[in-house]
Amino acid sequence: HAADAHRTDLMTITRFVLNEQSKYPESRGDFTILLNHIVLGCKFVCSAVNKAGLAKLIGLAGETNVQGEEQKKLDVLSNEVFVKALVSSGRTCILVSEEDEEATFVDPSKRGRYCVVFDPLDGSSNIDCGVSIGTIFGIYMMKDNHEPTLDDVLQPGKQMLAAGYCMYGSSCTLVLSTGGGVNGFTLDPSLGEFLLTHPDIKIPKKGKIYSVNEGNAKNWDGPTAKYVEKCKFPKDGSSPKSLRYIGSMVADVHRTLLYGGIFLYPADKKSPSGKLRVLYEVFPMSFLMEQAGGQAFTGKQRALDLVPTKIHERSPIFLGSFDDVEDIKALYAAEG
Ligand code: AHG
Ligand code: MN
Ligand code: MN
Ligand code: MN
Repeated sequence: HAADAHRTDLMTITRFVLNEQSKYPESRGDFTILLNHIVLGCKFVCSAVNKAGLAKLIGLAGETNVQGEEQKKLDVLSNEVFVKALVSSGRTCILVSEEDEEATFVDPSKRGRYCVVFDPLDGSSNIDCGVSIGTIFGIYMMKDNHEPTLDDVLQPGKQMLAAGYCMYGSSCTLVLSTGGGVNGFTLDPSLGEFLLTHPDIKIPKKGKIYSVNEGNAKNWDGPTAKYVEKCKFPKDGSSPKSLRYIGSMVADVHRTLLYGGIFLYPADKKSPSGKLRVLYEVFPMSFLMEQAGGQAFTGKQRALDLVPTKIHERSPIFLGSFDDVEDIKALYAAEG
């Protein structure tokens, strides 16, 4: 019975990725093993987030991170879980986390060929009020089989093999691309498995939503200010765009991916490189947007062409529906 097939033909994320990897004859399952350990981390954080209020995981950890941000207990806990899961996978050689000032070089006895950059808990300011938060990750292959160095993670985003995020919201949704499109998986708590729920996600070519922190408007540069003005007072008689801003990049990007529109974190006079970090926020989300038929722009260039020089480097970012990003690219080009 076709109707029952989907109930018994469980397309778990592991099975999905194994299928994808079987296209590469030389693959020995290492990537699937790595991904399984990332998935384990996401399941743990999902569980911790869901009981944060009860398990006294709310509030500050009493430390600040390299970003000068006060670390929340869940930031620290999530970071530790991901570092331990990734090292124990035996498939990684370098880890870069928002919460660690220095990169982690995995001990030779546990070393693999993958470099993982990640934001263990994105949207920390939303933890204590129960608004959706997430984890973001990107995966590089080390440049060649020499001793791992920072050069292996200071690669442009277009060199990423895979990128994804997990959103801890009303349900736990993991969105992933390994370079052949974008697929979404939802955690079935009764099975403890992520099942394929959003096959082959494509972002609408144009959207009706813009997503930016209007509180920074005073400090925006000309093109950004002009673009937001166009969203609110369109000259061509079309209706104004709606504003939706959650303040967790994962949630704002997930909505943009599914509904269309544009997400902006522009540069401003106070922070000329914007706020979002290149390796573990800008690159993974830009990778996903391009794989879904959208695009990602820094104000100067295609985001994935950027070559980072520091592991916590920041960049302005404009990403989302292809046509909407074209509009802002035209305004930056005109400013010249
Ligand atoms: P993180 O919690 O990992 O530090 O990231 C927070 C980021 C991102 O999630 C969000 O888009 C942005 O900060 C919101 O910044 P503003 O509060 O300045 O708008
Ligand atoms: Mn942070
Ligand atoms: Mn973040
Ligand atoms: Mn974070």
